[in-house]
Parts: sequence; structure tokens; C-alpha cells
Amino acid sequence: MKKLSLLTFLFCFLTLSLTALDDGLAKTPPMGWNSWNKFGCDVNEKMIREMADAMVASGMMEAGYRYIVIDDCWQVGRDKEGNIIADPERFPSGMKALGDYIHSKGLLFGIYSDAGTKTCQKRPGSRGYEFQDARQYAAWGVDYLKYDWCSHGEQNAKASYSLMRDALKAAQRPMVFSICEWGTNQPWTWGADVGHLWRTTEDILDCWDCTTDWGGMGWPLILDKQVGLEAYSGPGHWNDPDMLEVGNKSLTMEESKAHFSLWCLLSAPLMAGNDLRSMAPETKAILTNPEIIALDQDPLGKQGTKVRDDGEFEVWSKVLADGSRGVVLFNRGPSEARIAFSWTEIGYPVRLSAKVKDLWLHKELGKFKGGFGATVPSHGVVVLRVEP
Ligand code: GAL
Repeated sequence: MKKLSLLTFLFCFLTLSLTALDDGLAKTPPMGWNSWNKFGCDVNEKMIREMADAMVASGMMEAGYRYIVIDDCWQVGRDKEGNIIADPERFPSGMKALGDYIHSKGLLFGIYSDAGTKTCQKRPGSRGYEFQDARQYAAWGVDYLKYDWCSHGEQNAKASYSLMRDALKAAQRPMVFSICEWGTNQPWTWGADVGHLWRTTEDILDCWDCTTDWGGMGWPLILDKQVGLEAYSGPGHWNDPDMLEVGNKSLTMEESKAHFSLWCLLSAPLMAGNDLRSMAPETKAILTNPEIIALDQDPLGKQGTKVRDDGEFEVWSKVLADGSRGVVLFNRGPSEARIAFSWTEIGYPVRLSAKVKDLWLHKELGKFKGGFGATVPSHGVVVLRVEP
């Protein structure tokens, strides 16, 4: 009987540990920059090179950002042999040269394709060309593939993404594989075995709470949809609430800080989506805050949870590797408000005495027992590290 339960245990352990890709990539959420949110289809090699330069010069690289990802619209067709062709007018030096340039800066190179016949901007998709495209990306030195879901017809999502996973493996170059099917087939239930991150919703929009008829939405609405998905995320396989809108047109500084802080609390991939060449110093200070980034990149990789929801006021908490908690006090309301929480809400005994640090003020606030509270600006956050 004992032997049997040991065998059952071993079987379960092995099955569970084989359900993740386990290739050593994306042990912490990937960090980088992607062209889509700011530039849409207006991509070209000069701009991408300048973005790589700016990634280094701005201190973003030092803060941990690595991937430069070209989203949709770099591709225009296929040649007689079926090889994918990059737009010769916009990328005259070719993708290999661009990848080499990105690598020469110490950065990594990302690209975009689609599991269907066409990308969302009607460029050639990879359907039927998975192995050929993967080989081509490997030859170009690609390190990251974002794989979209337009024009998929009757295709099965898990099978289509698994096919590209196998193609990437056969191409024998390690690539982070970003599943982008907008959460429509519950990718969190199968994604860990297939890719390193999966989008959980439709596209993020540059606004506080706007929506579109096709499902795009502002970041607080995306945040709401992350509740319940926490258990699926971990080292090597992350829920992806979409790329950042920090530094684009519409969000206020408080809203941008809140967006960034909550994405870090969620262990979200951090893909900047702004123009790094002309960032305001305030934007740079948000995107490179080392203590907020440390919440995202914590090696335990445990996604934070909403521990209290009082309508306009929320408390979010993330368990960190050293036993500390990252805590975000979030005020969705129209005016400044005090938000307090107790130690029990973040999993500590009431009598515990713990150090509290404000991670936006970079200030130790002292030792507290039982709980803590702070005044939080409208549409803003206070972010704390609570350390017993
Ligand atoms: C969407 C995707 C966006 C962007 C766009 C490009 O499907 O969610 O992030 O990649 O396609 O056309």
C-alpha cells in the first residue's frame, strides 16, 4: 500500500513537472519593448535601431529590459520557395542585420507572426509554414516570438500553438514563445506546456476605462480580469495582461504609476510600449524604478492577488521569496482617500512587528504592528514592501 502511494506520488510529480516547457527561459517575467502600442504598422529598421540605442542610453537595459520586439507589419509576402519576406523598403538591410545590431547592444531580438493564414494586419501568417518560418527566425537570430491568432478559421488553438512550439524546438535556437490568442480558449489551462506567456484578454488601450466593440479596454478593466488566474502563473509560464501603455498619450502620471505597479504585482511580462527615444524623465522614472521592478522579477514568481475590494478602494498583495509582501493600495475613486489594511489580510499574524517601506517615495516608514494605512491619490497607488 505504502509502495503504491509512493509510486502514485512519483507519477503525479513527474506528470506535473512535465507539464511546463522547462527549457530555462523566462524564469522571471520577460522584460522588453514592443512596437505595437505606439507605432502600430509604422515600423522600419531605422526606428528599431534607434529604439535599441535608446534602450541602452535611457537606463532601461540596466533596469532589466532586454527584448526589442517588432510587432505586426514587418512582413510583406513569401518568395517562390515559401520563405517569408521582410518589407524591403522598410527593412532594406534585412532582418539578420537588424538582429545583429540589436545583439551588438547586448539586447535580444523579438519578432511577430500569426498562427492563422494572415496576421491581424493582413500580412502573411505562418499557417502551413511553421517549420520553415521557425528555421528562418533562428537563422536571423530571433530570441522571442509573439504569435497571434487572426485568420485562424476552424483551427484548434492548443494544437496550432503546439505546432509552432515544436517548430521552434526543431529550429534549435532558444526563443521565448508568447501566445497571443487574447484569452479566448483559456490558454492558462494549457499554455504552460506550450509557451512562456499567454495573453489573458483582448488588447490594452491607452486610456483609463474606455472600451471598443471588438473588446479592447483600458488597463483597470484588464486588471479586473486577472482575478482567478493567479494559480496558473509561475516561473517559465506567465499570465500576460498585455503590454504597457506607460508614457503614451492618455494616462496621467498617477494612472501610469498605478498601471506599472499593478502589472509588477501581477508578475506580468513588462513590455514597454512607448517611444523610448523621447521619454519624459517622469516616464523613465516609472519604467525603471528598481524596487517596483523587483516585485515583478522576484524569483519566487508568485502572482499577487486582490485581498480586499471595497468598490473604489482595493488592496493587492504579493508573496515574495524572502517572506516579505509587496502591497499595492489602489484608489479607483475620484478623490484622494485613506486606505488601510491589516496584517491578517496579507497572511501575517496581527502581533507581528514588520518594517514598511514606500517604494515610490523610496522611504523606510518604520516598524508597525497589526496593519498599516496611507493616503492614496485618486486613480493612484501607494506601493509598500512589508518585511517581518
Ligand atoms: C492583435 C494583438 C496586438 C497586436 C496586433 C497587431 O491581435 O493582440 O497586441 O499584435 O494584433 O496586428
